[in-house]
Amino acid sequence: MSQIIVFASGKGGTGKTTVTVNVAVALCKMNNRVLLIDCDCGMRGLDLMLGLEQGLMYDTGDVIAGNCITPDAVYSHPSVRGLYMMPAPMDAQDEIAPEVMKQFVTTLRNNYDYILIDSPAGVGSGFISAVSGADRAVIVINPEPASVRGAQNVRRELLKHGIEDIRLIINKVNEKRFFQTGIYTDLDEVIDRCETQLIGVVPEDHSVVVYSQRGSPYLNDSPVSKVFTNIAFRISGGNVQLAFPKRI
Ligand SMILES: Nc1ncnc2c1ncn2[C@@H]1O[C@H](COP(=O)(O)OP(=O)(O)O)[C@@H](O)[C@H]1O
Ligand SMILES: [Mg+2]
Repeated sequence: MSQIIVFASGKGGTGKTTVTVNVAVALCKMNNRVLLIDCDCGMRGLDLMLGLEQGLMYDTGDVIAGNCITPDAVYSHPSVRGLYMMPAPMDAQDEIAPEVMKQFVTTLRNNYDYILIDSPAGVGSGFISAVSGADRAVIVINPEPASVRGAQNVRRELLKHGIEDIRLIINKVNEKRFFQTGIYTDLDEVIDRCETQLIGVVPEDHSVVVYSQRGSPYLNDSPVSKVFTNIAFRISGGNVQLAFPKRI
């Protein structure tokens, strides 16, 4: 039976989709079967980031509307063993109602080790739909005030929806800029303000942009790739020490 984890953020552009894809790839490298569900109706991006955008016939909306059966809307990745993706409807009007979404993901539970849901930014109706079937949540932030405030809102909403197992990923960390701006003393302060347990700090890295825009998941053995591997390990219950920049 799979664990269903929603990836959310208050602000857009924090790197939710990027992080979700790379954590999924890392979980696959650990021999898991992982389904990525794009819940960003009208703004879907998972397919592009995975290089799977060509020839997509069906999406979650089609399955729910009865235009196709579930396997027709599940696309396997050609080079990442165990990785599957369901695209979101292209049209924002086809957003899936929370109750329907909950039932839908429940029917998929037995087929995967993990189902990762890429939520739209914010706490609107798309977010509510994305979280409705989830057991756990990961909030993706950048170390800056608007993003931290967004995380506080998202955390509150997740708790309202009964999701108590919440973890934090701080993405796009540029150590020099972080300490130069001096808004926070250190990342501990960011974590404290988010009131959420940290499971990873991802550096800002040009190669992440290159890989995601090319639509090829991060498969090499670079330091950033190792960060995602450690996050995947922690998600699966493993214990690996967190390393992040401290003020000197
Ligand atoms: N760690 C990172 N370092 C540098 N750029 C990143 C990183 N993570 C994400 N990005 C870039 O940030 C932009 C927004 O990422 P995306 O995953 O689409 O965000 P969201 O899904 O939260 O809107 C993309 O151009 C992506 O390549
Ligand atoms: Mg996104």
